[in-house]
Amino acid sequence: MSVVIAVDGTAASGKGTLAKRLARHFGFAHMDSGALYRLTALAVLDNGGDPSREADALKGARAIDLSRAGDPAIRTDIVGSAASQVAAIPAIRAALHDFQLAFLVKPPGGSPGAVMDGRDIGTVIAPNATAKLFVDAAPEVRAHRRWLELRGMGINRDEGELLNEIRARDHADRTRTISPLKQAFDAALLDTTSLGIEPAFAAALHLVSAKVESALKDRQRG
Ligand code: DC
Repeated sequence: MSVVIAVDGTAASGKGTLAKRLARHFGFAHMDSGALYRLTALAVLDNGGDPSREADALKGARAIDLSRAGDPAIRTDIVGSAASQVAAIPAIRAALHDFQLAFLVKPPGGSPGAVMDGRDIGTVIAPNATAKLFVDAAPEVRAHRRWLELRGMGINRDEGELLNEIRARDHADRTRTISPLKQAFDAALLDTTSLGIEPAFAAALHLVSAKVESALKDRQRG
């Protein structure tokens, strides 16, 4: 296993941005595991399937096109809630498990480490991760960030509706029977409710740095 930073947390908590910034800081590879569930959901919707049906979802998982991980089409709220549905199916989680593990064992580009963000990285995918963060923020603040982000993309949504969607997704992610969203017992909590991106990044770095630097030194010593 490489040096792994697991970043779990709620929707729109800032975990993705923090994970990317941490990866850049340490020169590690980064994977947004949510993109795998979103790509699966997109494939199901494109096929006219039902994201809550195992057979349709498995067909979608097999049709995942990784080159579309940066495609804005996977970032819509429709794909987000379909992703939450496919993510509750055990066979889908099993199908995506090995892929995530392979990335952590041997990150691309010969990188000594990897940062992976998602919902179950510190609890299920990499329980022995070097450092773990659990990122959260008040739902109202997350809805407002999402509203700003969408407005920046020229999409005008009702903020109250976004808040309801965020609450529904939190509930679905936290209450599913398989790999529910929860803070790992050894994860550090980072509440970004009143933190902008720079102070949040500084706090994240403060929480993981000592563990990461020491693991990198151990690796060098061989
Ligand atoms: O982080 P995100 O919003 O892109 O994730 C989309 C959905 O995928 C989310 O509602 C739950 C699911 N997901 C998951 O179950 N496990 C992960 N490791 C990542 C995402």
